[in-house]
Amino acid sequence: MDKTTFHIKDEENIVHARSEVREIARSLGFDELDQARIVQSVSELARNVIQYAKEGTITVEVLTVEDRKGLKIKVEDFGPGIPNVKELMMEAKRKHNGETSGLQQVRMLMDDMNIKTSETGEAGTCVEVIKWLKTSTMLNGKS
Ligand SMILES: Nc1ncnc2c1ncn2[C@@H]1O[C@H](COP(=O)(O)OP(=O)(O)OP(=O)(O)O)[C@@H](O)[C@H]1O
Ligand SMILES: [Mg+2]
Repeated sequence: MDKTTFHIKDEENIVHARSEVREIARSLGFDELDQARIVQSVSELARNVIQYAKEGTITVEVLTVEDRKGLKIKVEDFGPGIPNVKELMMEAKRKHNGETSGLQQVRMLMDDMNIKTSETGEAGTCVEVIKWLKTSTMLNGKS
């Protein structure tokens, strides 16, 4: 339960997934800034799927661990995999004009990030990210 999956193949699918994920995040109690961080991450990961793997899925799951609540987003495809993923994620080097790349941004926007990918191709890519609801947000009931 508490899992929703979106198929991602074109820009329209991304627009739909973005608004659904925003609504799930809002109803869980994430503030607008965190909703924006989550939705931005969904966009970056989904764009990569379309750009490099043609299609894939996004699965959104509500996590409850003791008194903590969080949102886990898993973005999966069966494309060629990410070459040199370790170097990419460790690279402090910034892209053109000091801009960070999509995956680097996602790592900064979310609390946890885990990438499983086949660097030799064909087995695809699975990126899991988690955003935890701040306890103070739950206590004072802000939404
Ligand atoms: N789902 C994926 N399947 C295969 N390769 C991927 C996937 N996602 C990312 N990559 C590879 O990792 C690289 C880095 O991705 P990242 O999103 O960080 O930057 P980018 O897509 O190149 O640029 P942008 O900043 O516009 O997102 C990509 O150039 C691509 O080679
Ligand atoms: Mg990208």
